[in-house]
Amino acid sequence: MNVTCVVGARPNFVKISPIIAELHNRCMAHRLVHTGQHYDFEMSASFFADLDLPKPDVDLGIGSGTHAVQTGMAMMGLEEEFEANRPDVVVVVGDVNSTLAAALAAVKLHIPVAHVEAGYRSGDFSMPEEVNRLVVDQISQLLLAPTPDAVVNLAKEGVEGDHVVFVGNVMAETLLRHLHKVKARAKYAELGLTAGEYALATIHRAENTDDECRLRAICEGFHYSSVPIVWPLHPRTRKKLEELKLISELASRVTLTEPMPYLDLLNVMANARMVLTDSGGVQEESCMLGVPCLTLRDNTERKLTVDVGANRLVPVDRREIIAAIERIKNGKYPSWSAPENWDIEVSARIVDALASLQG
Ligand code: UD1
Repeated sequence: MNVTCVVGARPNFVKISPIIAELHNRCMAHRLVHTGQHYDFEMSASFFADLDLPKPDVDLGIGSGTHAVQTGMAMMGLEEEFEANRPDVVVVVGDVNSTLAAALAAVKLHIPVAHVEAGYRSGDFSMPEEVNRLVVDQISQLLLAPTPDAVVNLAKEGVEGDHVVFVGNVMAETLLRHLHKVKARAKYAELGLTAGEYALATIHRAENTDDECRLRAICEGFHYSSVPIVWPLHPRTRKKLEELKLISELASRVTLTEPMPYLDLLNVMANARMVLTDSGGVQEESCMLGVPCLTLRDNTERKLTVDVGANRLVPVDRREIIAAIERIKNGKYPSWSAPENWDIEVSARIVDALASLQG
């Protein structure tokens, strides 16, 4: 069986890493295709290095653009790739534009698609990721769900049967497999932070960065936080903060850094008192690390992290953000256990499911 795995953006690299290792261990023929959606060293190459990912067999170099340009460019490159090296199945992960492009390009060539992280739903169609998730799940032949509620979401949309498999969360497996390296680092100390006494912030979603009112509310909340904050800036967030001339005032109160490589970010996360985020993956990683998470969004597709008590939604409002930070700083936060199937066997279950496609 020939498997082609497609990645494009930062969280994809984290999710594909154990799957590539498992395919390699089982001597299953595979190719790794990078669309090039993310291309900065900090956003791409540093992840390949930290995760011991092999160099992609091909990098399509599509870069940035509008949604249509980015998705269209990726589809054109992927169609050529799939025709030249026709796989038996295309594996796509997550919900970024490259995920959508790969699923569309494959299905139109009658190549089965396996979607890792199927069934997550925020119910918010203004999010590009929600549109991507919905379309990819409708056109995939194998749906590999991270949580039981994702299986339920798929069933509500009429997607059910043997081709829906609850495999667990592959990002959790990546974290568990790299935990010894994460613990061996002291990135937080290099930044002058004290373990358990600071918050890690990551903000990059369009709904927060491209809405001036929301971005200002977040900055004010962080500015007046009584807990020191370290905030690695995604390029789009930095650009928006520069446009609004918010950087220098913010930098007087918040430690702003470049985007961090995988192991450094997890080291800073693991030692934080709390996490402030709008990322999907960070909600899950903080849940695995036992660090309370405040999600600065109106909804989340990672509902299980809220249900187990690891994560809370916080309205994007200066006073709400400050109050939520204070509550964690002052109060006791109940502990929780890792959700079912968020373990080191996720990639094995995924590859078992891929192998079953051949009957
Ligand atoms: C994408 C995903 C988002 C995911 C995020 C992880 C989509 C629709 N969104 O958002 O779900 O959480 O990746 O980071 O696919 N840029 C650079 N260098 C890079 C990459 C991006 O400077 O290596 C800048 C460019 O100005 C670009 C902007 O960031 O226009 C946005 O990049 P893009 O890939 O379109 O989306 P992300 O915001 O990264």
